Amino acid sequence: MFETRVLSGMRPTGALHLGHYHGVLKNWVRLQSEHPCLFFVADWHALTTDYEAPGVLQDVGADMVIDWLAAGVDPNQATIFVQSLVPEHAELHLLLSMMTPLGWLERVPTYKDQQEKLADKDLSTYGFLGYPLLQAADILIYRARYVPVGEDQVPHIEFTRELARRFNHLYGREPGFEDKAKAAVKKLGSKKARLFNDLRTKFLESGDAEALKRAQALLDEQQNMPRGDRERLYGWLEGSGKKILVEAEALLTEASKLSGLDGQKMSKSYGNAIGLREDPETVAKKIRTMPTDPARVKRGDPGTPQKCPVWSMHAVYSDEARKAWVEKGCTTAAFGCLECKQPVIDSVLAELAPIRERAQAYLDDPTLVKNILADGCDKARKLAGETMRDVREAMGLSYT
Ligand code: TRP
Ligand code: SF4
Repeated sequence: MFETRVLSGMRPTGALHLGHYHGVLKNWVRLQSEHPCLFFVADWHALTTDYEAPGVLQDVGADMVIDWLAAGVDPNQATIFVQSLVPEHAELHLLLSMMTPLGWLERVPTYKDQQEKLADKDLSTYGFLGYPLLQAADILIYRARYVPVGEDQVPHIEFTRELARRFNHLYGREPGFEDKAKAAVKKLGSKKARLFNDLRTKFLESGDAEALKRAQALLDEQQNMPRGDRERLYGWLEGSGKKILVEAEALLTEASKLSGLDGQKMSKSYGNAIGLREDPETVAKKIRTMPTDPARVKRGDPGTPQKCPVWSMHAVYSDEARKAWVEKGCTTAAFGCLECKQPVIDSVLAELAPIRERAQAYLDDPTLVKNILADGCDKARKLAGETMRDVREAMGLSYT
């Protein structure tokens, strides 16, 4: 519905590392060529946990966007913006808060988890409890259909769907709905109208999911259908009221296969990360000094690749032939660890070179990023404004 829009956000964390690249960013780059995509800096989200230290938010956000662009996120394909510059998110958050049961928020698993994990911060705040609701507003305001996220975020997407359903249920039943829906079907033209009605009957009478999909696709193809009619027909199709807000699905992002220098998950806070813009000498040195299988004390001691973090890098960067070369050389002590690491160093440097080069252009001219964000915010505000018009109307707040 409303195209297959994709939306995702990232908290401003500053410069990104190779783990982000192999997990999130490559995924975004692929998605941007397949769907209309919106990617944003979730700066308000950062404040829900770091409200005591907001000082660096702006710089850190811009730095992160440079890495998105350097990794290949393309402002001509995707809309890139900053959450706090699209204040409509806050308005939707407020309006949704009126109808969000407290129990739903308290039950979101990250609520208690994070409070325990971040025990050094006082997170018994209204904003932190409302975090998933803010995220729901981020998603619903663009009527996004797909939300690429990691596993930990999936409950938030489910919460978002429940909220959309509740909203549509509460506010989608306008007076004269049946008649308006039927009139909208007529406007499809007699052939398509008949097909649509047949598919609808099939779905409603026998739960034929294929029929539902085909009917939805038929609506998706109608370029000129007014939004109100589209919302009505989406709802009518399933025997409900108007579908003002769209139920989004999580697109699970596979965790990056690339672990950190010590074999743990790559993370800046563990000090085991390779930054996307780190200079080649530092990167090479980091890999050269990586720990290896502790059994290889001396050059002549054989090792087991599966016990070595370097092996997990070969798993990402090496083809079968090179992996076989590692297995053999390691288990027979045919070569030392430095020799084994060299092809990894070469591959990582080759991967980072174009990224660093692209980033440099943005570092040299900060107005580039400013303009990209200004442009993205404009586009985002337009889309958000459309949804807000419908939401205000549904909630009895359209005074113009
Ligand atoms: N909560 C997400 C995270 O911490 C970031 C986020 C905020 C987000 N709003 C979103 C992700 C909307 C997807 C969609 O990673
Ligand atoms: Fe690790 Fe390679 Fe050394 Fe084996 S030879 S321990 S795989 S670095």
